[in-house]
Amino acid sequence: MWTCRAGFESHLFEELAWAGASPRMLGEVLVESETRPAEPPVFARTGIRVLTSLPSGQSLDQTAGALAERILVALPQGMLVLQSFTPDSPAGNRLADEADALLEAVRSRLPADRLLEETWRAREAGATLVELCVAPGAVLMGEVPAREALSLSPGGRQRMRRAADSPSRAAMKLEEALVNLPFEPGRGEVCVDLGAAPGGWTQRLVARGARVIAVDPAKLMPELAHHPRVEHVQESAFAYTPEEPVDWLCCDMAWRPLEVAQLLAKWGRRDWATHLVANIKLPMKDKNPLLLRVRHILTEEGGWQGLTMRQLYHDRDEVTVTAHRSQ
Ligand SMILES: C[S@@+](CC[C@H](N)C(=O)[O-])C[C@H]1O[C@@H](n2cnc3c(N)ncnc32)[C@H](O)[C@@H]1O
Repeated sequence: MWTCRAGFESHLFEELAWAGASPRMLGEVLVESETRPAEPPVFARTGIRVLTSLPSGQSLDQTAGALAERILVALPQGMLVLQSFTPDSPAGNRLADEADALLEAVRSRLPADRLLEETWRAREAGATLVELCVAPGAVLMGEVPAREALSLSPGGRQRMRRAADSPSRAAMKLEEALVNLPFEPGRGEVCVDLGAAPGGWTQRLVARGARVIAVDPAKLMPELAHHPRVEHVQESAFAYTPEEPVDWLCCDMAWRPLEVAQLLAKWGRRDWATHLVANIKLPMKDKNPLLLRVRHILTEEGGWQGLTMRQLYHDRDEVTVTAHRSQ
């Protein structure tokens, strides 16, 4: 079972169908598939293998007891990270208190020494995520090994607090993308930030110790424009050429996706950057066919490798791409 952003169910359904995974709509923001496709679906926030589904309306005690028993039978060994979520829709969000209560009730029935509290350690500890989904009409329970999970956050809702000094909401998209990468921009590295204004991404890169060349005809917030490790190139990204190759190419340009993909492919072909994090805007109705073309341009024409393409929790009508060049 997959979760997605509200309104994106049909796009998720379509890509699962194209992958031959036999999807079925379960309800708002929930899509089920018979098999797991080889490539993680772009529009899925998270996915679990459903172990049981119970009708809602039973007592908390009954539901929690049945779920705990099923968890212990299906997963007799190993560390577990237990989480609960509700579908991210108005009807789902009204069930948040029930989801919290169920989480505590199931937790109290599982052996404490098998429960890992530090979710961020789940992958290195080889733990299994056990997710309780409290949806209108049913409670579903499923699992996914943390190393295969698309997200370690309940239901893929990677909530982050916006930093008080952040010039834009966009910074959270970069933060979320970097959480999923094995390495991130750091001290001494050079990043080019295409479509940088007002400076949310640039600020997060500078905070990590990197030097940033921010390319955008629009203005950066003054603190960044005067920062010693920021150079603002006030021109179009299509006209800009780096003086020498850089470590990271970041791109959040509000521009046509195919033209942005061509630009990123040019950077790849010319070996102008080693790592790529790019946000691709998708205002059109037919998103999947366009994403196929973007993927083709980046990999076949640009030589970008290890491409991931995901609609992250902080992405709206857009997806985030990461990739690298071989070194
Ligand atoms: C979503 S905003 C970027 C937000 C930014 N990442 C942040 O965190 O503050 C999109 C930006 O793309 C810029 N943009 C659009 N076309 C561009 C182009 N051809 N070259 C450079 N920047 C461009 C716009 O000026 C705008 O500032």
